[in-house]
Amino acid sequence: MRKGLQNPAAQNQRRGAVPGPAQPMDMPEPSPAPPEPGAGAPRETVFRARGLRKTYGSGEVEVVALREVTLEIGRGEFVVLLGPSGSGKSTLLNILGGLDVPTEGEVWFAEHRLDGADEAALTRYRREHVGFVFQFYNLIPSLTVRENVALVTDIAEHPMDVDEAIGLVGLTPRRDHFPAQLSGGEQQRVAIARAIVKRPDVLLCDEPTGALDYVTGKLVLDVIARINADFGTTAVVITHNAAIAAMADRVIHLGDGRIQREERNPRRASAAEISW
Ligand SMILES: Nc1ncnc2c1ncn2[C@@H]1O[C@H](COP(=O)(O)OP(=O)(O)OP(=O)(O)O)[C@@H](O)[C@H]1O
Ligand SMILES: [Mg+2]
Repeated sequence: MRKGLQNPAAQNQRRGAVPGPAQPMDMPEPSPAPPEPGAGAPRETVFRARGLRKTYGSGEVEVVALREVTLEIGRGEFVVLLGPSGSGKSTLLNILGGLDVPTEGEVWFAEHRLDGADEAALTRYRREHVGFVFQFYNLIPSLTVRENVALVTDIAEHPMDVDEAIGLVGLTPRRDHFPAQLSGGEQQRVAIARAIVKRPDVLLCDEPTGALDYVTGKLVLDVIARINADFGTTAVVITHNAAIAAMADRVIHLGDGRIQREERNPRRASAAEISW
């Protein structure tokens, strides 16, 4: 299968976008809306899940985190998972990312079957295909921005240049700084650079703006939308914030462990266009 982020220059050209390093994102203003993927255009399916159920504990203390979750996500899609606390969002994202396995049901990433996969196979899957971004950045405090991002490239098959990844998130002037010298939004952009430097097929983000103020939150969303639009990286973003849903191709509403409803946005809003 084609790997995501394999040929960014060609993809950028095709989409008419300017690649990151030539136009670094050290800018205060979010960019205009990303190119439309073409509403209703058929996409290759990357994730396919059927009848997912996830329980924790057993007997009287059993918690059902997911029930009867069936979904498909297309390559290059930008999906927002929305729902109240405890509705199963992180559980679903972790299963898609191979950090957890379902109790029942099937889940596939392209031709890789994830349910029932052993730890070694899941580790390989995560390493080769998935970039994670979490609410808290999990950077290594004793390493600079460059070193934090470079760590990942040792274990990646086809990493992009570390400085290119740092340029894509607009942190070139800060690349020799330590995490403690950066704002929350900058630290989150380092975490995004670390997630994308290995050219993942999918970018899975669990409340990436949860710890950020309004302005830096929008900058981080803009970076995620750009990665998705410019490289075709499938993005699944969890949020509590309904305004962010306008940036997605598709919004999946979770409640009580189930998919309550889905909606497709006729056009994607840019980070600059949304407010909350
Ligand atoms: N390791 C675990 N052990 C027991 N119960 C768990 C575990 N992880 C999650 N749960 C339970 O599963 C349910 C779904 O949790 P999940 O973390 O997926 O929710 P969420 O939608 O991400 O919530 P939040 O918005 O608060 O992050 C919750 O009731 C939670 O308490
Ligand atoms: Mg969660």
